[in-house]
Amino acid sequence: MSCIDEVTEILDLLYKHNWDERNGGNLSYILTEEEVNFICNPNNIIREFKYSFDMSELVGKYFIITGTGKYFKNCLKDPINNLGIMKVLDKNTLGLVWGYLDGGRPTSEAPTHLKCHIERLKQDKEHRLVIHCHPTNIICMTHVHDLDSNHFTEDLWKMQTESIVVFPEGIAVLPWILCGGEEIGIATADKMKEYRSVVWAQHGIFCTGKTLDEVFGLIETIEKAAEIYMKIFDKKIYQSITNEQLITLAKAFNLNYRKGIID
Ligand code: 13P
Ligand code: ZN
Repeated sequence: MSCIDEVTEILDLLYKHNWDERNGGNLSYILTEEEVNFICNPNNIIREFKYSFDMSELVGKYFIITGTGKYFKNCLKDPINNLGIMKVLDKNTLGLVWGYLDGGRPTSEAPTHLKCHIERLKQDKEHRLVIHCHPTNIICMTHVHDLDSNHFTEDLWKMQTESIVVFPEGIAVLPWILCGGEEIGIATADKMKEYRSVVWAQHGIFCTGKTLDEVFGLIETIEKAAEIYMKIFDKKIYQSITNEQLITLAKAFNLNYRKGIID
């Protein structure tokens, strides 16, 4: 299976889960040179894209990145117009080696993605993937819940037993900030020093990790917890998961969970 098959399969699933309406969401995935060789000649630079921030730490790496304005709905049937493979040529330049055939360019959130890759690679050498999407219940929660990251994490952990197991480091939450800009990119990457998942209030989520399965599973689990929250938060609650039960779970699964939330 080529990296394009793997990526478009996940983009299609994200669309079918209703988390990427219209052109909503974007993905960037680090590719090995062997994976790129399988698709195209990595030394044939078709076009260049300039950025004003410093991506020196990524020079020489290859990324597959969704195009701006492109619909996840269309990626599986038409990858070459909706996706691009790029090499980081120097600290300010991405060189296109495959894709964006109709003249497209990388997602408007590419600066945020690339800044997140820089931070996550410092935390985890095996890191490869950033997915941004618009899951309904996570967005709902940012309308009815306070935006304190610890409070948000605590409520998500307490919605279902699996939450703390899948995201023991918790979830960071940012207030509404203009998307596609410098400020939101810096703020998101800063949170990525400690978290794999960052919620953008009234917008969506950025999730990161090593593999397509891991990151898809992370989004699914957070969104499921948010769905449970939205179904019950205004109902009379008879019982819920306690702090003690979460700590018991953390011990049983040997979890390095974020401190200062339930203890
Ligand atoms: P792009 O079409 O530029 O990827 O933007 C979609 C999006 O979700 C913006 O946050
Ligand atoms: Zn978005």
